[in-house]
Amino acid sequence: MTTGREWWRTAVIYQIYPRSFADADGDGIGDLKGITSRLPALAELGVDAVWLSPFFLSPQRDAGYDVADYTRVDPLFGTMRDFDQLLEAAHALDLRVIVDMVPNHTSSDHKWFREALASPPRSAERDRYIFRDGKGPGGDRPPNNWQSVFGGSMWDRLTGEDGLPEQWYLHIFDSSQPDLNWENPWVRERFKDVLRFWLDRGVDGFRVDVAHGMIKQAGLPDYRPPKSGASMGGEADDPPYWGQDGVHEIWREWHELLAEYPGDRVLCAEAWVGPLTKMALWVRPDEMHQAFNFDYMFAGWSAKDQRRVIDESIAAFSAVGAPATWVLSNHDVIRHASRLALGADSPQGDGIGPTSKGKPDPVVGLRRARAASALMLALPGGAYLYQGEELGLPEVIELPDAARQDPTWFRTKGEKYGRDGCRVPIPWEASAPAYGFSPTGAAWLPQPEEWAVYARDRQEGVTGSTLALYEDALRLRRTRRLGAGAVEWLPEFARSSTVVAFSNRDVTVVANLGMRSVTLPEGRVLLESAPTTIGANGKRMLPADATAWLG
Ligand code: GLC
Repeated sequence: MTTGREWWRTAVIYQIYPRSFADADGDGIGDLKGITSRLPALAELGVDAVWLSPFFLSPQRDAGYDVADYTRVDPLFGTMRDFDQLLEAAHALDLRVIVDMVPNHTSSDHKWFREALASPPRSAERDRYIFRDGKGPGGDRPPNNWQSVFGGSMWDRLTGEDGLPEQWYLHIFDSSQPDLNWENPWVRERFKDVLRFWLDRGVDGFRVDVAHGMIKQAGLPDYRPPKSGASMGGEADDPPYWGQDGVHEIWREWHELLAEYPGDRVLCAEAWVGPLTKMALWVRPDEMHQAFNFDYMFAGWSAKDQRRVIDESIAAFSAVGAPATWVLSNHDVIRHASRLALGADSPQGDGIGPTSKGKPDPVVGLRRARAASALMLALPGGAYLYQGEELGLPEVIELPDAARQDPTWFRTKGEKYGRDGCRVPIPWEASAPAYGFSPTGAAWLPQPEEWAVYARDRQEGVTGSTLALYEDALRLRRTRRLGAGAVEWLPEFARSSTVVAFSNRDVTVVANLGMRSVTLPEGRVLLESAPTTIGANGKRMLPADATAWLG
């Protein structure tokens, strides 16, 4: 295992989405044994850690982000023994393992919710969740106007045993994901038990789901949303259910609990709040260790936007003593090999499908994605990769309606495609069934016919492949210690409208976001996301939408 304190400050963490990574038992859904069998490929890639999206017992209404038991492995993914083996195999390969903790809500199948339903209003069991009487005559109207992130009201009404309508319960996401009441000490204690359960097993930390949502504004007041309606968050004026001050007390308690354990365990926040200076509150020294940088993820593909977000990120995170983090893709957003070729008015976060306007050009998308990733991996701090981006995978746009599974698609009645397009099982071997994802050829979301070209075995050892680009970048990042370096803008490009250029330690990084080739400064090319050429002036040129590292 990488030694040294606070390994996470410079780590590259690879997100595994278990359903779609590798399927050992052939049922078309990835599993823990599948992950274990493919870990050597990740060690070769050169990442420091993996983060596993949820594999806990769940009815899978939101692909496992609806947990029915936090301390059991869903049989869909295997057994606890499979998990222990995965952990052991990862550690033997020098890879740390972070698991996903989903504390904002449980599944409606969770024992705690069932007990709440079986208990009368205002009972201790109901107080574990957020139950309220409705408004108006007969309590027929929901307690407030909040809209679910996945569409529709955030409230659902119960029907009593006598068949009469009863209280309402709150769910920020799907109606099968009731929100827990984090004002209740009982809930807090139960989660400490859960954290200890996994820490005792040896996990290296937790990615914490919806770490900005657990405390709601007192009195649950109505919200007047900005015109786009509810989203994953990030609006300047946070709604009464996002980013409330009370969440920080929880993170301080979790921080203390992790600190009791040896080995530098880590908490990483999924907190969709803005601006960056606010998000940095989640990573103050006594709270979480890292937070995903969603401002960076959604920054425009322009030199000005990129420089601004890099400067703002480093300033905001370093003001609280935390490392900056960088991320371009995950299981909730359009893959960056497609997103970076979408116009500014194209839908983001909510998916893209056959009838969406403004389809991304795949060639432009991949070129930009490679340039963006090469830029990101040269930045100091931590970085997150999402499975398949090292293969250059695009978003799958042409998924048949009948195959879609994201609750967003159902709750918005098809108005939003949702996130299935970034969750399609990844290709390992070009000529194997399901591209090597599953021995039987089954795949829970259909893989496109043209995906053979992205298969890992087609890219291994191939100069110029996206896989080789990531491997080279990760190796250089490690040997040149870029994670612990600093960004210094090259003065000659500091105001350029097309070029982002900086040095980090002894590496000079130049990204060309414009339409024309640019002349590179002197230096040997260490890495290039697209082939550099020699121009008429005899100097080395960097083509459009490309990044080079010189040193
Ligand atoms: C987070 C997850 C997302 C999930 C939601 C509800 O945003 O990343 O996939 O649907 O929380 O748990």
